[in-house]
Amino acid sequence: IIKKNLLSEGKTKKIYTTNNPFEVLIHHKDNITALNGLKKNFLQDKGILNNEITTLIFKFLISCEIKTHFIRKVNNREQLCHKVDPIPLEFVVRNITSGSISKRLGIKEGIFISNPIFEIFYKNDQLQDPLINDHHAVFLKILSYEELNIIYSMTSKINHFLKKYFLDKNILLVDFKIEFGKNHRNEIMLSDEISPDTCRFWDKKTMKKLDKDLFRMGFKEKVFDIYMEILKRLNISSSI
Ligand code: C5P
Repeated sequence: IIKKNLLSEGKTKKIYTTNNPFEVLIHHKDNITALNGLKKNFLQDKGILNNEITTLIFKFLISCEIKTHFIRKVNNREQLCHKVDPIPLEFVVRNITSGSISKRLGIKEGIFISNPIFEIFYKNDQLQDPLINDHHAVFLKILSYEELNIIYSMTSKINHFLKKYFLDKNILLVDFKIEFGKNHRNEIMLSDEISPDTCRFWDKKTMKKLDKDLFRMGFKEKVFDIYMEILKRLNISSSI
C-alpha cells in the first residue's frame, strides 16, 4: 500500500488516501478527548491500543456477517479500510442507563433497559451534535427512511452480537456509539471505530468502569491500564 495524501483529520484519527481510489488508511493518534473536544489530552500509545481493539471487534463483526469498512490492520497504528462517504450521524445504543440519557431524563445510572434504546445524534460541531430523530434525518436529506431501516437493522444485530461477545469476557456493554458510511456502490457499511473511547464497558462482577468515562471523570492516569485490560480480555477468550 502506498500512503498518499491526508484526506481528513479528526480528534483521534487521520485518514489518508492510498494508491487504490477505493481504499483509505486510517491512522490512530494518541489523543483523547471528551465533551465534544472541549477536554483534550495526549496519552502516549493510546492509538496503538485502540487500533488493536477496534481491529479485533471489527474482525468479530465481520465473522458475524456485518458489512464493515475494515479490510486489515497494516501496522501498530494503521488499518486499511474501504473508502466510504461518511454519514454525518452518530448512532447510540443503550442497554443500561448512563451518561447523557440519565442527565436528560433524570434517571439514575445502572438501570437495565430491556428493549435497547437507539438514539441519533447529528454530527455538527457548531451545534454540538444535537439529538435528532428519523424525521429530522430525512428532512435534512442525510438518509431516506429505507436507509434508516437498513441501519437500524444492522445496529440491532451489532448490539446483539457485541453484548454476547463482551459478556463472555465478563464485560457489560452499557452503551456504544457507531457510525456508518456508503461505499462507491452506495452500500451502507459500519465505519469509524469501536473501542473504549466509543463504548461504556462495566466489569460484570465489580461494575467498575473500563472505558473513557475514567478520562471524563478526571482519572487520565488510569486510562492506559484500563484500555490494556480490555485488550487483554479480548485476546484471552477469542475462541469464537
Ligand atoms: O454521552 P452519552 O451518554 O450520550 O454517550 C453514549 C455512548 O456513546 C457512550 O458510550 C459514549 O462513549 C459514546 N459517544 C461517542 N462519541 C460521542 C458521543 C458519545 O463515542 N461524540
